[in-house]
Amino acid sequence: AVLFAGCTGTQTETPAATGSEKQTYIIGIDAEYPNFTFIDKDGNAVGFDVDSAKWIAEQQGIEVTFQPVAWDSIIPALQAKKIDMVYAGMTITDERKEKVNFTNPYWTVNQDVAAREGSSVTLDDVLAGSATIGTQRGCTAAIWVEENLIETGKMPAENLKQYDNTPLAVNDLEAGRVDAVMYDDLVLKDIIAGKSVHIIGSVETNEQFGIAIRKDDVELLNTMNEGLGKLMNDPYWDELQAKYNMA
Ligand code: ARG
Repeated sequence: AVLFAGCTGTQTETPAATGSEKQTYIIGIDAEYPNFTFIDKDGNAVGFDVDSAKWIAEQQGIEVTFQPVAWDSIIPALQAKKIDMVYAGMTITDERKEKVNFTNPYWTVNQDVAAREGSSVTLDDVLAGSATIGTQRGCTAAIWVEENLIETGKMPAENLKQYDNTPLAVNDLEAGRVDAVMYDDLVLKDIIAGKSVHIIGSVETNEQFGIAIRKDDVELLNTMNEGLGKLMNDPYWDELQAKYNMA
């Protein structure tokens, strides 16, 4: 207890000295990114990254809330302080690192490619640039196609079809409006579950996920790095992977 100097009567504690006021941070997520971040039938944010963030918040003595944001505007939203971090399967890239800081990596993915059941499209067709490809606008699959197929002249730019989220791309794949969909491996497997679509191959991009934080917010970066370290060394880390079928 902190006493007011010179207060000889009742012993009074300053409200600020109780330490009960936790700082609240808004986490930007994607509503359609199973099993890392998605919105359940009751409208709650759930998923591997969401549970991870809640656990870290508890450990580090902060509060977090979750805000769905369109993927291709999520870094601008972070820079404009509409959100305080992106904890939603964001790949650490050199280009993004020019705009934001990333925590240490916590997960690795490659890019899987899906085609319609019964279609003759192969991974070789996709890699040769002779298939139309759908994916989420602004994601690393789109960047991979741009750099490796469009800029090299293997594929015309209009054969890359970008959607607000990947379930929309998979709908177009099922309907025959696009030949293939490329996306983060585990997530694509979740999105195509129960659909007449299957994985035809994988491109080894070896991408690492990190939490993105504004460059000037070094304190939050330290808080999240420390919390991630605790999480990845706790039995809860394996429990979470089992809960979301990620092993
Ligand atoms: N890992 C890919 C990227 O960083 C796709 C991530 C999409 N994440 C999401 N929450 N929609 O671009």
